[in-house]
Amino acid sequence: MNKQDTIILSGIQPSGKLHIGNYFGAIRQHIAMQEQGDAYYFIANYHSLTSLKNGEALKQFTFEVALDYLALGLDPEKATFFAQSDVPQVTELAWILGSLTPVSLMEKGVSYKDKVAAGLHPNIGLFTYPILQAADILIYHSNIVPVGEDQKQNIEICRDLASKFNHTFGGDFLVEPEEFIVKSVATVPGTDGQKMSKSYDNTLPIFDEAKSRKKKVMSILTDSTPLEEPKDPDSDNVFALISLFADETQKEEIAAKYRAGGYGYGHAKKELLSLMNDYFHEATERRVKLQENPSIVYDVLREGGKHARIQAEKVMQPIREVTGIHRSFNI
Ligand code: ADP
Ligand code: TRP
Repeated sequence: MNKQDTIILSGIQPSGKLHIGNYFGAIRQHIAMQEQGDAYYFIANYHSLTSLKNGEALKQFTFEVALDYLALGLDPEKATFFAQSDVPQVTELAWILGSLTPVSLMEKGVSYKDKVAAGLHPNIGLFTYPILQAADILIYHSNIVPVGEDQKQNIEICRDLASKFNHTFGGDFLVEPEEFIVKSVATVPGTDGQKMSKSYDNTLPIFDEAKSRKKKVMSILTDSTPLEEPKDPDSDNVFALISLFADETQKEEIAAKYRAGGYGYGHAKKELLSLMNDYFHEATERRVKLQENPSIVYDVLREGGKHARIQAEKVMQPIREVTGIHRSFNI
């Protein structure tokens, strides 16, 4: 991969505390990939507005997501890190793309259907969510979008819209991106065994009070095999979570204990708790320090936002030109 030629982009919604599903499914790849290209990572606050109607909470979660990323190793010298709302060209492009989007394409949106089925109000923002996401990606000519499995369809929609725009206006104005999904951690299970998600109240937050983390780990659903009997690690939730944190040797040792019997789920949960605590220990210390210096966090977002806005404006100018959108001035 040629570093200069590859634009990597991803976004994350600030609609609650980030959890280990977000970490293994997305954030870890984001941080690793900041070494591999020109990386753009942003906090998708407009997207969160489709589900969250509380200004104070949105501000707070936006700050916390920034804290989490910086504590987990996002380096603002390597990646452009910013808030979606600092790049108004994104909503501008979203409107233009929306004018080319068949309603039938949005009606196929699995994520929309899932969210409505889960009880979210079916507002227009939620319905056209993939168009805004496409604009997020296309506005920087992004090539690679690291996301979790559930975002695959949105990236396909993004490619469709880029190609539709290019065909309609006759030129290579927008670049079609590829998703990047890490298969081995495609879906991290929650404490109830379903996909871990903020919407299902089954998460293990990356950063949590010791007491609360312990309570959540201890509440992970298991079967009722008695302590003394052998257990199958491959069909157990706790083991699936342990596998995320343990190295190969630790994993084999713990799996052997499961199979031998005399090792209960309570033991496995304690093992998981200790692995989690160790894994996030340094990041937790960095986060505490950053939290005491919010101006560092806001400075990073401001500088990232400035850079992203300049890049977005470069892509936007020929698009205004070819679509015939009048502009009396550029700021
Ligand atoms: P949530 O379902 O908690 O609201 P988001 O939809 O905001 O999470 O997802 C943010 C990122 O984390 C996306 O790239 C998504 O694919 C990934 N992700 C979310 N939950 C999981 C999970 N349980 N396993 C793997 N990746 C996940
Ligand atoms: N829809 C993504 C999620 O829920 C967040 C997101 C918004 C995003 N815009 C994006 C992800 C652009 C990748 C690229 O996780």
